[in-house]
Amino acid sequence: MSEKIQQTVSHILSLVKTKPVAGIILGSGLGGLVKEISVEHSLGYSDIPNFPVSTVAGHQGKLIFGKLSGKNVVVMQGRFHFYEGYSMQEITFPVRVMKFLGIKNLFISNAAGGVNPAYQIGDLMIIRDHINLMPSNPLIGKNSESLGLRFPDMSEPYNKNIISRAKEIAERKNIRAHVGVYAAVSGPTFETQAEYRYIRTIGGDAVGMSTVPEAIVAVHMKLSCFAVSVITDLGGMEEQVPVSHLDVLKAAEEAEGKLTHIFKELISSLD
Ligand code: HPA
Repeated sequence: MSEKIQQTVSHILSLVKTKPVAGIILGSGLGGLVKEISVEHSLGYSDIPNFPVSTVAGHQGKLIFGKLSGKNVVVMQGRFHFYEGYSMQEITFPVRVMKFLGIKNLFISNAAGGVNPAYQIGDLMIIRDHINLMPSNPLIGKNSESLGLRFPDMSEPYNKNIISRAKEIAERKNIRAHVGVYAAVSGPTFETQAEYRYIRTIGGDAVGMSTVPEAIVAVHMKLSCFAVSVITDLGGMEEQVPVSHLDVLKAAEEAEGKLTHIFKELISSLD
């Protein structure tokens, strides 16, 4: 693992000279932030050694280097999901690479189903904690002490200071943003009504198919992590409406501007 990270980092450093302070992972339908970046380099995933190869036709992901709010950032436009058949280690490999490129902060976005009855489609949910319902964990296997501890503490996976700054930004801008618990499932099926109710019962406010593997690896490497869900559909309601991927993408695209605003302001105030 470590050797692979080194190899990938060396390759990127031979092309990219600026050191990013923050990494950003953009979720489904949430790629609009890229328009705000003054792009310096854009590398297709398939041109990056050791990056997972995308299985979905027409879904070429890109690793983008540039400036956002005056800060050097690296952005993953397109992420890898467990339901696509990648291993947990493959999904989180780019986070390892971004750490060794110099990032201190990881910002993550995703589309999620709301299970808290107070949530509405188009709301944001700042993630304050998570429940891992995926059938695995990216740290399973031999631990590399040079990357992090065997048994990482998870008492504050998402940075509390950044969460309170994000809340202030949302309030100032009149953006509906909750602070809640994200439950991660493998997918690719959306949840049954009983599953949505179960997730609510165990303390989830929203449910989705990503983010937690990346956040775990960020915590492992002592990166400061911040994540936001865009609520794209509602689960566990009395009259359940069927969920489709198209509806999820549409709702995400509609709410994307709010998320970009919060990410931009947070990044402008980074050291
Ligand atoms: N469930 C799981 N993942 C999701 C959902 C959902 O309702 N919406 C968007 N991603």
